[in-house]
Amino acid sequence: MAKRPSKKPSKGQQMWGGRFNASPGELMQAINVSIDFDKRLAAQDIRGSKAHSAMLAEQGIITKKDMKAIHKGLRAIEKEIADGTFPFSHDLEDIHLNIESRLKDLIGDAAGRLHTGRSRNDQVATDFRLWVRDNLDQFDAQLEKLMRALLEKAAENTDTIMPGFTHLQSAQPVTFGHHMLAYLEMFARDRARMQDCRARMNESPLGAAALAGTPYPIDRKATAKELGFARPMANSLDAVSARDFALEALSAASICATHLSRLSEEIVIWTSAQFQFIKLTDAFTTGSSIMPQKRNPDAAELIRAKVGRIMGALTSLTIVMKGLPLAYSKDMQEDKEPVFDAFDALDLGLAAMAGMVTDMQPNKERLAEAAGAAYSTATDLADWLVRKLDMPFRNAHHVTGTIVVMAEKQGVTLDALALEDMQKVEPKITKYVYSVLSPLASAKSRVSYGGTAPREVRKQVKRWQKVLDK
Ligand code: ARG
Repeated sequence: MAKRPSKKPSKGQQMWGGRFNASPGELMQAINVSIDFDKRLAAQDIRGSKAHSAMLAEQGIITKKDMKAIHKGLRAIEKEIADGTFPFSHDLEDIHLNIESRLKDLIGDAAGRLHTGRSRNDQVATDFRLWVRDNLDQFDAQLEKLMRALLEKAAENTDTIMPGFTHLQSAQPVTFGHHMLAYLEMFARDRARMQDCRARMNESPLGAAALAGTPYPIDRKATAKELGFARPMANSLDAVSARDFALEALSAASICATHLSRLSEEIVIWTSAQFQFIKLTDAFTTGSSIMPQKRNPDAAELIRAKVGRIMGALTSLTIVMKGLPLAYSKDMQEDKEPVFDAFDALDLGLAAMAGMVTDMQPNKERLAEAAGAAYSTATDLADWLVRKLDMPFRNAHHVTGTIVVMAEKQGVTLDALALEDMQKVEPKITKYVYSVLSPLASAKSRVSYGGTAPREVRKQVKRWQKVLDK
């Protein structure tokens, strides 16, 4: 028989938030309170309040004296938060009320004038925009760092031959530098996407008030300018209820995370005992507690997994927003945690990836050996037959196929096959064919723009050096 629940609340239930015996008031507080997470907006909230009160004084809506008291109090609060002495309170619901109430403790009645011509609706919209914008700026710097790490690896390895893959089957030899630059291109687009997002989101909601604007003679252009926004948002209903700036930032973050994940996946494959294409030091690997021979690429695996959080956040916020009528609804309080979590994950992922790229060392011998395996220069042989013997490509493809089967039977690579053997298939083949059969020769021949030839890769390295130093 199931145990009857005891009437007396357990120790856990007696704690704040113990659900079982909570009164309606406690339940309301439990579901309403956001201070535990929106305290992360404290710096942005104070920035917004300073700008708002300065504007109020400039417009003659509050006195200069009150404005000075407000600024002094806000500076004191900043210090308390930095020192960890600020008395965060659940009773005061969110960061906005916590700060305003503390301001009253510190400066008295003047604190009550700060909220003139403003509502928590435009306040939170402003704070959150500033927070997302600050983070996009940080990602910009992190992406640049990652791009520089990739560029350095590329510059060191413009001549390092490795197998290029399609379907994860050896396809044609490429250079390691070329492979690094492929990721550099992706992260450059991620960076541009975030810059675009920043430019589009950089408008100020402050002064939209609750939803309809305010009768006070406020100057929205002044607060916008003070907060680094390009202009005030032109519609007050939109200003308090738009969250597409966060959705756009999350989609840019998600796409960036897929790139991090693909590179992570390659690192996982490349560090395996079967591949041994690269080495990571102890800085980015862990040992196994039971298998002493192992060195696991945990950092890469965790970056690969963090995409789940980031995309989950995008889905989560999209669903929060999709059914909301204008203007503000309390649902929007649920906008913050997914963004905080996703951005923390991306922050860590970008930093760890930059570190790992710098840390990784290509195993050049192993890469060259792998590049020569699996008849990776078969296309080069076919191209040689077309160019030198004027053979139609389809015939050349057939002749090459026959030669590959022959090499397979002998268990040798194409450049180790005897000329007489090749001539048995096509008598017009000469010894000069060997000049295209090595992986290095193959890579060197791909000189088309954007191709893998060391010469082309060096050009791209130079181009990126210029772009990044600009
Ligand atoms: N904590 C709230 C949020 O994050 C602030 C806005 C509250 N506005 C309101 N009308 N209750 O959305």
